[in-house]
Amino acid sequence: MEQGPILSPHILIFPAPGQGHVNSLLKLAELLCLAGFKITFINFQNIHERLVRHTDVEARFSKYYGFQFKTIQGCEAEDPRPADWVRKLFQEMEVKSKPIFKKMVIESNPAVNYIIGDGVMGFVYDVAVEVGIPTIQMHCISACSFWTFFSIPDVVAAHQLPIKGKEDMDRLITKVPGMETFLRCRDLPGGFCQVSHISDPNLFVITKEIRQSQALIINTFEELEGPILSQIRIRYPKIYTIGPLHKHLKTKLRSIEKQESYSSSTSLWEVDRTCITWLDNQPSQSVLYVSFGSITIMTRQQLMEFWHGLVNSKKKFLWVIRPECVINQDGDNLGEIPEQLQEGEKEKGYIVKWAPQEEVLAHKAIGGFLTHCGWNSTLESIVAGVPMICWPYFADQQVNGRFVTEVWKLGLDMNDVCDRGVVEKMVNDLMVDKREEFVKSTARMAELARKSVSEGGSSSSCLNRLIEDIRLMNM
Ligand code: UDX
Repeated sequence: MEQGPILSPHILIFPAPGQGHVNSLLKLAELLCLAGFKITFINFQNIHERLVRHTDVEARFSKYYGFQFKTIQGCEAEDPRPADWVRKLFQEMEVKSKPIFKKMVIESNPAVNYIIGDGVMGFVYDVAVEVGIPTIQMHCISACSFWTFFSIPDVVAAHQLPIKGKEDMDRLITKVPGMETFLRCRDLPGGFCQVSHISDPNLFVITKEIRQSQALIINTFEELEGPILSQIRIRYPKIYTIGPLHKHLKTKLRSIEKQESYSSSTSLWEVDRTCITWLDNQPSQSVLYVSFGSITIMTRQQLMEFWHGLVNSKKKFLWVIRPECVINQDGDNLGEIPEQLQEGEKEKGYIVKWAPQEEVLAHKAIGGFLTHCGWNSTLESIVAGVPMICWPYFADQQVNGRFVTEVWKLGLDMNDVCDRGVVEKMVNDLMVDKREEFVKSTARMAELARKSVSEGGSSSSCLNRLIEDIRLMNM
């Protein structure tokens, strides 16, 4: 017997334990709440405690009928380290969280109609198949990086990996369809592909989490990634591109609730808003915003190269330094911002431990963004029309950086050279000498992003289709 429409489906949403992932999936959850769906949002316990401590999400979501937060144990790793850490984390989640999650799904009341799992947590999809509930994979990374991860087995089969040392970094990789002419070894997923042997388990750690499924949601928009999305559609015909999610949610809330200002903080750190007051007193487009997201770690030496480069550029900067992001040569966290940097505050620039980033990027004083190219940061910069200097750190960020500079022409690439001279030149190029090159392309892309989430735009129409398909269970 054919199933009729389910008027108010109950959807489980489950993000991976990281700032970028929680951000995107909470925004998706709120968009689906606005469509009238019952949502259960599952968070890892430690992540949820931080979310509640630093934001008003509980109060904000309490207005949605049928919405609830639930927490799950099984991810205690708090100390981010690339590749090896991610692999350990995935193994731990699979062993500890999968059985708890399965029990939660089976015992759920009301019954679960749909699961939207994070694309990097394959076990969520496996559970859904085991208990017979339809799922959609949500990818918090760009289409271009998803496609690169997806194509790694073909790259290996074509003997284009492993990378043979530093001198091999500019070799072209020709086995990722749609990127044959510009994807270099250095642009492959950082930390995962820079291995000396193809039997290294890090090489496939993300790829292994990706499942075939009826549908994908990607936080992107057609006008930005159309050609790559066409490639992905050959393997996954049903893709919902509903990004940039942060802009989409803001636009929807404005139209429904006529809210002019909307606070959507989903921060896992305490936000320091004093930087907004500082920015208010700076001339238009005069400040470089510097932030490397929530996972990046760097040595004290790298930090000092950035510091000298920024100071020597003579441009003012607003710099986010999470104390736990600085390590010594043994890899231990220093847990502090070097004194020299704190003394330099205010006169040369302003340093905070965590900023209200979306608001910062939208501030008129910001003229550029030195970024690690995390996908949320990249989209936020695109929406704000701010050109970027790219210093990708790991995973998807390398591919994002390549697209920002080579394909979309929205910024400059540091080519992985963390040196004060390079930083100084890049800052001056972006803020002064080559500024003209980027003014048009950033303004154009920001406008396309705005249109995509406005009524009738590509992402807005796609969201309507997603809502309709879920109602009709039509995946
Ligand atoms: C991770 C991965 O590293 C990233 O590559 C992937 O695309 C998503 O998951 P993260 O490294 O934290 O995320 O980077 P990013 O995706 O840019 O997300 C960081 C988020 O934190 C952004 O939404 C940004 O606005 C927010 N942020 C960052 C703040 O609110 N304040 C800050 O001071 C810094």
